[in-house]
Amino acid sequence: MEVVILPDHAAIAAVAADAIEALVRLKPNAVLGLATGSSPLGVYDDLADRHHAVGLSFAGVHGFALDEYVGLPVGHKESYREVIRREFTDRIDIHPDNVHSPDGAAEDIPAACAAFEAAIRVVGGVDLQLLGVGTDGHIGFNEPGSSLASRTRIKSLTDQTRKDNARFFDGVDEVPHHVVTQGLGTIMDARHVVLIATGAQKATAVHDFVEGPVAALCAASILQMHPHATVLIDEAAASGLKLADYYRHTYANKPPWQGI
Ligand code: GLP
Repeated sequence: MEVVILPDHAAIAAVAADAIEALVRLKPNAVLGLATGSSPLGVYDDLADRHHAVGLSFAGVHGFALDEYVGLPVGHKESYREVIRREFTDRIDIHPDNVHSPDGAAEDIPAACAAFEAAIRVVGGVDLQLLGVGTDGHIGFNEPGSSLASRTRIKSLTDQTRKDNARFFDGVDEVPHHVVTQGLGTIMDARHVVLIATGAQKATAVHDFVEGPVAALCAASILQMHPHATVLIDEAAASGLKLADYYRHTYANKPPWQGI
């Protein structure tokens, strides 16, 4: 796991966008794993800017959302399918048919989850998965206790996550209790995982998943087992890390050709 401590959200977004641009230029039919939440928004802005300014094309790219609420009406503005569309895919030239989300409105949720996993397999798997992290260490919506080998499935949200996400709704009572999410096994199949976390409210989760034990209690800790996981954080989110100076030194002395 590579930990990169950067000055601010713009610097983090630029490093993540550089990695995605390099991937898409090398592999125009790359498969991107798309996260919601506020953490990846700067990356989407940066990539949309590159699309308009220098013609970075996503015409052959596929995108797979990480997760979705269950029970929101189709087209609800806070459904993650809508958020991904609004914040990213409508701003670039990706083909709408190439953007996939777990279906939280399906009548048969297990069948829809299996179809979503199959769709990822059909395009050859995810090349680069963007992630945020919840204050309880969840990635996607894999709450504490999630199987470290889980696949896309239905989950119940913790009270903490519903409170954290209430800012997007008219109060916590409006936040659904159920979600469908890529599993930890699904996320671990991505060839490169890039997790973004900023702010002091993420410092405990960042410490726990980077330097704590690998444990289902902190789902993101499974990334310690990933062969290519990059953690992009600001100083506030890094404030609980024991080896922060080592991570700074390592990144500062990295050969420039290496990228993340
Ligand atoms: C939600 C999403 C996660 C996201 C998390 C953190 O729970 N399901 O994918 O990582 O929020 O969100 P934020 O980036 O807004 O802190």
